[in-house]
Amino acid sequence: MKTIFILTSGGDAPGMNAAVRAVAKVAAAQGVRTVGVLDGYDGLMDGRFRELCQPTDRGLAVIPDLDTAGSLGGTLIGSARSARFRTPEGRQHAIARLSAAAGLIVIGGDGSLTGAHRLAHECGTPIIGIPASIDNDIGCTATAIGVDTALNTIVESCDRICDTAISHRRAFVVEVMGRQSGYLAMASAVAAGADAVLFREQARSAEDIIRTVAQTIRTAFESEVGKRRVLILKAEGVDIPCTSLVRRVEEELQPVLPGVEIRATVLGHLVRGGRPSFQDRMVAARLGRAAVVAVLRGESDQMVSWLQPAQGGQPTEDPSVFRYPIERVLQESRALLDGSSPVTKWRVKMMSEVSGVLGL
Ligand code: F6P
Repeated sequence: MKTIFILTSGGDAPGMNAAVRAVAKVAAAQGVRTVGVLDGYDGLMDGRFRELCQPTDRGLAVIPDLDTAGSLGGTLIGSARSARFRTPEGRQHAIARLSAAAGLIVIGGDGSLTGAHRLAHECGTPIIGIPASIDNDIGCTATAIGVDTALNTIVESCDRICDTAISHRRAFVVEVMGRQSGYLAMASAVAAGADAVLFREQARSAEDIIRTVAQTIRTAFESEVGKRRVLILKAEGVDIPCTSLVRRVEEELQPVLPGVEIRATVLGHLVRGGRPSFQDRMVAARLGRAAVVAVLRGESDQMVSWLQPAQGGQPTEDPSVFRYPIERVLQESRALLDGSSPVTKWRVKMMSEVSGVLGL
């Protein structure tokens, strides 16, 4: 029986399980078995696998655990960041495990796709990537699995923080994950009605950031409209710890706004958990389906992507899904982070326009 191997790798993202479930269901419907590789590339090198389908009178069916997990965050088959897989010796172990496979589907972010690209060059088995990372820092795709749920969690957290901020007339700096990408901070700032947003791509000095935050709080609390809360979103990639930022801003404001109260909240890993949103489950299911189709056609070293036709991807039967060579994806991901991508330029321009109207 034909067998597809599937793994999740790097930071988990809500919707990874939904993608694994979709792959197993679509493959089973075609009589193809899906085997889950435990703990990412580590499990592939060590041969740690779990059957995701079982035979029934009516053909293959996915295991009940996976059916349930599709609606949960995290990843049922485990994830890891593997240093061993980056070595040629490590990858030789992985290649040996794949000798009888019809293909391998890798669900993950930049590091995981880099691994998939290397493996695809060294091994004859078809390898297809599915983008999943809350950071939204993967090139050639409008979104990655996990981004929508993470944004919903951030926005809901900000709404809750604003309840208490308004009650006490306080300012809050809320830090969100995203590694070097400011996308989560930017998008959630708009949706939560923040007063300012700080992200690495702005390339501001620490002193400039402190001045901006102090000025934002001062303008808000001195305004005649009676504002009772200030919300500032800060991306993890901005290299100044929240607590130091708040202390410096309080010092700056002491002479003009004595007694002003500023609090810092770092949302951290909270943002990575939780049940996937409808959008993440739907994108996961459709990318999962497209990945199975690609593997069974013998395509390799490609990533299936969501709604990015402008960058010249290969269309698929699904009008919202495209396919890109992983090498191209990795180039675009680098451009997203170093600021040379038109997408990053647009985000920075849009946010600088928005900062003139945010909240004040
Ligand atoms: O890439 C996803 C991510 O959650 C980043 O936003 C964050 O910087 C990093 O992973 C945290 O990694 P870890 O879970 O290993 O601490």
